[in-house]
Amino acid sequence: MTYTDKENKFKRHTVTTALPYANGPIHIGHLAGVYVPADIYVRYLRSMKEDVIFIGGSDEHGVPITIKARKEGVSPQVIVDRYHSIIKQSFIDFGITYDIYSRTSSPTHHKTASDFFTKLYSQGKFIEQTSNQYYDETAKAFLADRYITGTCPHCGNEKAYGDQCESCGTSLSANDLINPKSTLSDSVPVLKETKHWFLPLNDYEGFMREWILDSHKEWKPNVYGQCKSWIDQGLHPRAVTRDLDWGVKVPLKDAEGKVLYVWFDAPIGYISNTKELLPNDWEKWWKDKETKLVHFIGKDNIVFHCIIFPAMLKAEGSYILPENIPANEFLNLESDKISTSKNWAVWLHEYLEDMPNKQDVLRYVLCANAPETKDNDFTWKDFQTRNNSELVAILGNFINRTIVLTHKYFEGRVPKRGELNQLDIQTIEEIKTFPERIGVNIEHYKFREALTEMMNLARLGNKYLTECEPWKTYKTDIARTETSINISLQICANLLTLCEPFLPFTSAKLQRTLNLRPTPWFEAGRDDILKQGHKIEEAELLFERIEDATIEAQVQKLLDTKKDNEKSNYVPSSQKDNIEFDDFAKMDIRTGTIIEAEKVPKTKKLLKLLIDTGIDQRIIVSGIAEYYDPKDIVGKQVSVLVNLAPKDLKGIKSQGMILMAEDLDGKLVFVSPTQNVVNGSEIK
Ligand code: 2FM
Ligand code: ZN
Repeated sequence: MTYTDKENKFKRHTVTTALPYANGPIHIGHLAGVYVPADIYVRYLRSMKEDVIFIGGSDEHGVPITIKARKEGVSPQVIVDRYHSIIKQSFIDFGITYDIYSRTSSPTHHKTASDFFTKLYSQGKFIEQTSNQYYDETAKAFLADRYITGTCPHCGNEKAYGDQCESCGTSLSANDLINPKSTLSDSVPVLKETKHWFLPLNDYEGFMREWILDSHKEWKPNVYGQCKSWIDQGLHPRAVTRDLDWGVKVPLKDAEGKVLYVWFDAPIGYISNTKELLPNDWEKWWKDKETKLVHFIGKDNIVFHCIIFPAMLKAEGSYILPENIPANEFLNLESDKISTSKNWAVWLHEYLEDMPNKQDVLRYVLCANAPETKDNDFTWKDFQTRNNSELVAILGNFINRTIVLTHKYFEGRVPKRGELNQLDIQTIEEIKTFPERIGVNIEHYKFREALTEMMNLARLGNKYLTECEPWKTYKTDIARTETSINISLQICANLLTLCEPFLPFTSAKLQRTLNLRPTPWFEAGRDDILKQGHKIEEAELLFERIEDATIEAQVQKLLDTKKDNEKSNYVPSSQKDNIEFDDFAKMDIRTGTIIEAEKVPKTKKLLKLLIDTGIDQRIIVSGIAEYYDPKDIVGKQVSVLVNLAPKDLKGIKSQGMILMAEDLDGKLVFVSPTQNVVNGSEIK
């Protein structure tokens, strides 16, 4: 029984997480939005001794995977094999405790998805419709929107994709493109008739209104709001098949070259993976009304999980529907949207290379900052602060002090309890409230709040210890010290259970130190978990300070990424009109050496330079003071346009111009010969 299901309506829980596309590794945004909250939820339910299965897997179909495969010249299977194992390993590394992590290319999934389609088909749940779609006659294939490029009708970008223009961000359909071209063969595609099967979502509008809008008002406002807006705009038939050669084949005679739409087969993956886990016993997890089905997803998946998949399940008829879909918003990184293509992300496998054994720190920071109600920002500075001022200073500090004192005064044994004073009684009363305070928040998908409550228990411990001052009473009143250490240890024993969903690696360490199996959640809150005389091991380091240099290195890594992106996106200004050689020959450009340099007083940008041009020594005023310290450039050989008409700058007669190139960040750099040459040498 859970705190919020007092009537025991549900006997078991099926918890799923969005199946990530196996076309790239996963990053902190995925973890914060979906996988950490789901894992906290499941670990909590297990500790409550609820019957729960936790289902995950990779989504291995869809057009982006085929595109990546083509780019690399390999089959899609090679791509999904690669990323499936990377993703799976990341989940293991971060302690995401799936009961099964499978994949949609598995035979069980293909059969399950195919049978699901057949059942709906034979019950007449689809409508068939033909339409004209782009076809590549050279490659002999219908083209997914992403396989077509052309000119964006909105901004004129000539490299817009058939589904979106990445230049102006507009969503497109391939038919909108001007001068469409197939990326398979570069040929001009033709429109050709093709047949597809559609799920008439419009038939389910009334049902959705009742089921979601009337009966699930408790869903998170972001989820409920998105559903309402979809339903209010009117639901329309949705194609569930595609012309593509990668995916679950459409199990019909006249459907050669067609597969199920990836968003039709992927959620069925939850069912297939349950079947793989429990071949003989899977049905009750999906078909029994006493099962509570919860999908953890990101906000871009809301319509698929709240409307389309439930409509599929409803059409099939024998399945339960999700009880809740606690979708999160997005996590940004240092104020910018996380982007795989721009490499603007903290990849989980890279994080662990840079910060070995710090899984819990990331889990903590991502949960504390989880984008539960709005988009949130991850910054390395915040990561450092939360580690140093919360994990180290509050949680680690309390546990460490308690364990060290136990060893110092009581040879590592739990001391006995003497008479209780007012503070002891109050503290014990408060300890009792924590399992429910944290648990209720978790049951309401308020993981940030739950985490704060868990930390409040550590805060309570610190406050108690500080007020009791057992190091002082040790000399004057040993019974007091015994009692206060005993109670502090009971708080540690409670933390062992109550921090486990959030910080499983830390909880495991604490388990070793306290020499104690975690008490089940509903039995926590007690003040007699550790018995008198129980042996406590030496303290293990739970958290360590993260120094500025570590954080600066991470920030630098991101700055480098930004610079790389700017470089690869740099569009040089367009070429100027042609000139004759004679025009060029009019310019007299020579090598020269800077002999003296000084700032021009009362200006920010100007340096007064004395240049040996080989012809003479002359003054040139140059706008480079922001980038160079005068003393650093004396002796530098540069290129000088010597026959530029003299000009008066701030009262100084400047005779010529130093040639400079401008970098992306606006910095001016000298255009110098790569070897020293004689001054006055002509540049031609
Ligand atoms: O958005 C995504 O990453 C999808 N691959 C999620 C699929 S969730 C489910 F339906 F499998
Ligand atoms: Zn555009």
